[in-house]
Amino acid sequence: MSITILGIESSCDDTSASVIRDEVMLSNVIASQAVHQSYGGVVPELASRAHQQNIIPVVHEALKRAGVKKSELSAIAFTNGPGLIGSLLVGNSFTKGLSVSLGIPIIQVNHLQAHVLAHFIKQSPDDTNQPQFPFLCLLVSGGNSQIIRVNSYKDMEIIGQTIDDAAGEAFDKCAKVMGLPYPGGPHVDRLAKEGNPLAFHFHKPQMKGYDYSFSGLKTSFLYLVRDALKENPNFIEENRADLCASIQKTVVEILMDKLYKASRELNIKEVAVAGGVSANSALRGAFETYAAKYHLKIHIPPFAFTTDNAAMVAITGYYKYIDNDFAPINTVPFSRVNM
Ligand code: KG4
Repeated sequence: MSITILGIESSCDDTSASVIRDEVMLSNVIASQAVHQSYGGVVPELASRAHQQNIIPVVHEALKRAGVKKSELSAIAFTNGPGLIGSLLVGNSFTKGLSVSLGIPIIQVNHLQAHVLAHFIKQSPDDTNQPQFPFLCLLVSGGNSQIIRVNSYKDMEIIGQTIDDAAGEAFDKCAKVMGLPYPGGPHVDRLAKEGNPLAFHFHKPQMKGYDYSFSGLKTSFLYLVRDALKENPNFIEENRADLCASIQKTVVEILMDKLYKASRELNIKEVAVAGGVSANSALRGAFETYAAKYHLKIHIPPFAFTTDNAAMVAITGYYKYIDNDFAPINTVPFSRVNM
């Protein structure tokens, strides 16, 4: 019998709902919240309020686009953390209410695990490009930079992670120094295409093992710009593209060096990338280059699955459903990493 899962994602500033039937995505609807743009970052209280307004229309639209009736759902999977508590509570409470009214179970999903399992979403029944276990997943977002050894759908081990800022945060903070809007990552990516990646040199951190650190890079970028502005008040305007290309090159090299070190030392030849920063064109390019040079099998998600989306929640819910891994009705959201 078919398993049909409704997935709900509301951990930060995207309200999303998706329907998946037997690993195949039938719909994935995302409502992004423009309200935060003028604040230079996500305002938690405004995010919660926007989720409240969006969640019913988004779920309704996801069911409609999937052509699935509520009565056909097997279970509802929802992101229960990590994330903003107020935002998570909207998805958590909505899921509980709908599940009680339909008499179906609920499945709690870890947002980070869902980013990794996004690689298993099938866009059609004959889509067979999923990774083989074990593989390494570079999870890079605004809040995380991790290398995860993925042994199975539920057995994931974080073998390296940032000890301070995440890669996305480094992009966003450097972008802010250059006066670019939030989130700055996509702007850095766009401007970098016209810049010289060798124009400026930044020191890479010397971290042991597979850990990352990005706060020193962010500080050296800040000092470089601050000192240069003393000499030339137009420094940023005149060098923005080169600054973007140089900082992007450095971030990508830091990420790839550790990922390749892990691949080599653990002898794992399949590597994947997940999270918002995986939309970065230089990072995608570096994956292709490393694949060709070191004979790696790479998995780069479609753009729609790089940022927060409910299809990744629904697919994670699907595997948990098979395992009878249901959540009690009194489950509460968690804000911090808990993989
Ligand atoms: O996974 P995600 O959507 O959510 C959070 O972690 O909140 O990641 C968002 C991060 C932001 O830091 C954003 O600047 C970054 O992903 N990002 C990018 C690009 N697209 C999004 N960074 C670099 N290049 C991009 N094209």
